[in-house]
Amino acid sequence: MAERRYETIGLTTADGVATVTLNRPDVLNAMNDAMRRELTRCFTDLAGDDAIRVIVVTGAGERAFSAGADIREFVEPLVPVRFREERRRIDFRQVMDRCPQPIIAAIRGFALGGGLELALACDIRIAGEDAYLGLTEVNLAIIPGGGGTQRLPRLVGRGKALEMILTGARVPAAEALRIGLVERVVPPAEVLGAATELARTLADRAPVALRYAKEAVVKGLELPLADGLRLEGDLSTLLRTTEDRLEGARAFLEKRRPRWKGQ
Ligand code: COA
Repeated sequence: MAERRYETIGLTTADGVATVTLNRPDVLNAMNDAMRRELTRCFTDLAGDDAIRVIVVTGAGERAFSAGADIREFVEPLVPVRFREERRRIDFRQVMDRCPQPIIAAIRGFALGGGLELALACDIRIAGEDAYLGLTEVNLAIIPGGGGTQRLPRLVGRGKALEMILTGARVPAAEALRIGLVERVVPPAEVLGAATELARTLADRAPVALRYAKEAVVKGLELPLADGLRLEGDLSTLLRTTEDRLEGARAFLEKRRPRWKGQ
């Protein structure tokens, strides 16, 4: 992939892992229009790049993953043209939904509002002991608009999601772990390392199997059980046609590491 230059985010790639860094640390990585546009472009590119097996998303600095929408943009009245533009714009979190690669959020400090909505659009969340997560929009007389009202209840259940969204509370890391909002909590300095290590482990798996496993779970969750089972059946049958399946079995029998071809 031709690496683009971005102003508000960073993108590095190594060993099949792309790391996207929200990079406005002076405002706790708050998201302005430029960042939203760049995230849309970045995830669109990554989704189509077979060399990228896993994506890690993190925030620059030690204080925040992201403190959500840039509130300074709220004080400018929205003119009709901008309203119409906003309606046309595809939320970058929907672009993330279309990424076939697993996406891991590495969360230090605050993940609030749109920042938590970004983390909710990831597949696995690793948080630092210093993390605070919340959908705090109600404190500003608005509601989550980046998927929070839909993705949070699907993750933690209706009651817990409503409690968080209606109070706008910030949930500390230990509580987030207990309610299933994050998968793992580690010391703050180890967050990115733990996410990268997990990403490398996943990037080592047979590429097509990795993608189909994600598709079966994520798409299947949106389907009635019988249709989900059918999807799983179709994907696992397709995987039986790959060269990597033969390679996996041979490597096991020959007691060596497999060499995946991604086909
Ligand atoms: N938009 C714009 N700027 C933001 C921001 C946001 N969402 N969140 C933080 N900042 C800025 C602050 O204005 C401050 O800038 P300054 O140094 O120029 O004054 C800087 O980031 C540091 O934040 P500060 O508030 O001083 O840190 P804190 O430790 O006292 O508080 C938070 C941290 C995250 C609790 C607090 O910044 C906050 O509540 N932010 C808003 C979060 C929010 O409601 N997000 C949802 C928006 S819909």
